[in-house]
Amino acid sequence: MAGLIPQDFIDDLIARADIVEVVGRRVQLKKAGREFKACCPFHDEKTPSFTVVPSKGFYHCFGCGAHGTAIGFLMEYDHMSFVEAVESLASMMGVEVPRGDSDRPARRYDELFSLLDSVARHWQASLKDAPRAIEYVKQRGIDGSTAKRFGIGYAPDGWSNVLDKFGKSPEAVERLLATGLIIRKDNGQHYDRFRDRIIFPIRDARGRTIGFGGRTMGDGEPKYLNSPETVLFHKGRELYGLYEARQALRHIEQLVVVEGYMDAVALARHGIDFAVATLGTATTSEHLNRLFRLTDNVCFAFDGDRAGRKAAWRALENALPLIREGRQIRFVFLPEGHDPDSYVNELGTDAFLEALDNGLALSEFMIEELAGQVDMATVDGRARLAELARPLVNRIPTGVYRELLLDSLAEAVGLTAAKLEQMLGTDASGERRVKFPSGRRAGTGRRRRTGQPSVVRHAITVLLNHPQAGIKLDVEQIAGVQRPGVDLLHALIETVQEEPNITTAGILERWRHRENGPHLMKLAASEMPVEEDFDAAAELADCLQQLALAGRKERVEFLIEKQRVSGLSDDEKSELRQLY
Ligand code: UTP
Ligand code: MN
Repeated sequence: MAGLIPQDFIDDLIARADIVEVVGRRVQLKKAGREFKACCPFHDEKTPSFTVVPSKGFYHCFGCGAHGTAIGFLMEYDHMSFVEAVESLASMMGVEVPRGDSDRPARRYDELFSLLDSVARHWQASLKDAPRAIEYVKQRGIDGSTAKRFGIGYAPDGWSNVLDKFGKSPEAVERLLATGLIIRKDNGQHYDRFRDRIIFPIRDARGRTIGFGGRTMGDGEPKYLNSPETVLFHKGRELYGLYEARQALRHIEQLVVVEGYMDAVALARHGIDFAVATLGTATTSEHLNRLFRLTDNVCFAFDGDRAGRKAAWRALENALPLIREGRQIRFVFLPEGHDPDSYVNELGTDAFLEALDNGLALSEFMIEELAGQVDMATVDGRARLAELARPLVNRIPTGVYRELLLDSLAEAVGLTAAKLEQMLGTDASGERRVKFPSGRRAGTGRRRRTGQPSVVRHAITVLLNHPQAGIKLDVEQIAGVQRPGVDLLHALIETVQEEPNITTAGILERWRHRENGPHLMKLAASEMPVEEDFDAAAELADCLQQLALAGRKERVEFLIEKQRVSGLSDDEKSELRQLY
């Protein structure tokens, strides 16, 4: 899918783009050694923790964790789509994004958007002819104008309604596939993904339809069927209802995060226009960054059941690094058996607003939740609570909020704040672990202590940050080694060997649309600073050797076991001898 814009064009663009210029046009940068610093444009801060590393073509904020390439920066800062960012970068550098008949990427993305829009409108129209669907929508308390505002529709039953109407040429079928509207069978035939479902179009920040959620009207499984991840649709970053909220409100005072499509719609129906829903996923940092760019006041309204509390806890964990003075994060748990949809429908707007007002502050929720895991009646239990809080508190940037939270914690465990701080060992500088585990020299072969990253992960991180160190590696050594991540490492090494000038950013862009893309982004960001005398090539060679050795050992063990159980073939015998 990433192939809509030729990869070598992106490689080239990223290799030549000057990230300092791209960022510097929008943010005042100050040179600091080989890097550039600024106050982070993605969160409020007084001392600069936003860093641009020209050699890697990469930026990273130690405060809020924002990171990415020049393309990623444009996407985040200027709210551009991937294609827009590529085009903007290209025009900045005076080159044109390749346009031929078969590869007119921009047009092809436009075509995907316009296809989704046509299908959304088609389904919206279908609703009018489907009394059963209308009945369902009404019975869920949704009135006509709310349905219209959210573009709610109906996908009629049948295996090829969309396919027949929108897939008249091979290219059109490709587009349907690329947007997840149809599914390909093993025999090469296709069928409609959404059948006999109420349709909720999912829109991006600019109001373009990027995917759909479809609810069954009966007890069919799954209850909600969603578009798959596509080039246009990333569940971890989109919030259902955000576009509609921005349309409805001139000024966004607060945003309420709920779990379901129906929750967001029902709240809007009752005049609460500031609800957004995550799309069946946990609340990610990307979601949170998005929310905090629009408002300082975010409230999570989840079900009061276990699942709801768990979801809230995940949100809390991701929110910790984003805590700032002036920001408010609250948690509302509705009474057992209720979700925001049922609550507002049964008890009305005022009751829901009151529930919001009575929400728990983040610190209260944190302490309440941790207290539930220990025996607060004993000294040991309270010490344990402090212990459990430690990693969480350490993720909060230093400042007034952290101090207040420590005060509340101290009160909960019955200690003075000073004593607690001592116990927690929280570092007043708010230091984060950004260095490689120290004390390792290339070639020593002894690095693993528990808690340190695996060899594979370490190798991937080193390679990402020092691509040229991988050029001479003997990648065949690790072919066939069975370890999670080895395939990725293998592919990365091949990439740098094929493309010896590739930068960190270049690699990241190559992986942008692949499954491991976000993971690589994080690794590139998490371990940036490195000792001056670090020999990346030696380190990598060492890692590969360790993996190869581990692979050989496992093979030997396997062969010995096989010998014992069922005997070895002649080939296997000679392999075993060689391995010895
Ligand atoms: P819930 O199961 O809580 O449903 O899922 P709900 O929102 O209350 O739905 P109604 O009121 O029965 O219609 C919450 C969210 O989780 C995702 C959807 O995004 C849903 O809105 N989900 C749930 C799925 O993606 N698939 C499912 O099968 C179920
Ligand atoms: Mn519900």
